[in-house]
Amino acid sequence: MIQAMREVIVAGNWKMHTVPAEAGQLARTIAARTRIPGVTRVICPPYTSLAAVGAALAEHDPDVGVGAQNVHHELQGAYTGEVSAPMLAGLAGWVIVCHSERRRDAGETDALIGRKLQRAIEAGLRPILCVGELLAEREAGQQETVVSRQVRGALADQAPATLEAARLVIAYEPVWAIGTGRTASGRDAAAMAAAIRATLTELGFTDGGERVPVLYGGSVTSASMDEFMAEPSIDGALVGGASLKPDEMAGIVTRAGLTATARAGSV
Ligand code: 13P
Repeated sequence: MIQAMREVIVAGNWKMHTVPAEAGQLARTIAARTRIPGVTRVICPPYTSLAAVGAALAEHDPDVGVGAQNVHHELQGAYTGEVSAPMLAGLAGWVIVCHSERRRDAGETDALIGRKLQRAIEAGLRPILCVGELLAEREAGQQETVVSRQVRGALADQAPATLEAARLVIAYEPVWAIGTGRTASGRDAAAMAAAIRATLTELGFTDGGERVPVLYGGSVTSASMDEFMAEPSIDGALVGGASLKPDEMAGIVTRAGLTATARAGSV
């Protein structure tokens, strides 16, 4: 029953793409093409395009959320080039925390990620926590151990009630599937969602973590979305490359809408 109530979410991570002059129009086009009842939509542009995207969406489709792709773990200070959670006020309502590209390129650790999450929540941002294993870890059969460790490492220092109140979202993004055109199978993604919720249960989340939406991310397209939305434990997608293409986003959100409608009908 809780699964039936869980929100369906499609978030687009634009990564390091778009300049402000084009971002507003792209967001507006995507918003217009994805007006599907029951699906929460979020666009996460680069910092420099947050204002343009926010302004375009406020005017044309305020239902679409705006998210940042990162946030610093301190509130202010001598951190050249960084952006803190309070600085995102008025620019973003959501934030991606701990993307694997930041683990890879910025050396982000689970402990640091926990602090980022805390700052995000204090600032009223809705966090999307990304977790996922490397190819070698999957080949060694370590995927559940790795992802559980990441979830525990990021969340253990906060009260589950705080994280639930912040409406935490977790995205399972196997690193080997990001930008490669290769996706996990729906069955594998569902197994990882179960492992994530088992960890949430250990941490003391209510209802065995069943209230926390779990998204799949990694080469999602309009063609592969069905594979994931067919799994009751998967609640949507965190989309990279395809989130820059309005046609793709239209297909992805339309498929998500079928699940949202089915869930609404089964409550
Ligand atoms: P791709 O969809 O381009 O594989 O990226 C996924 C991702 O990293 C979303 O955060």
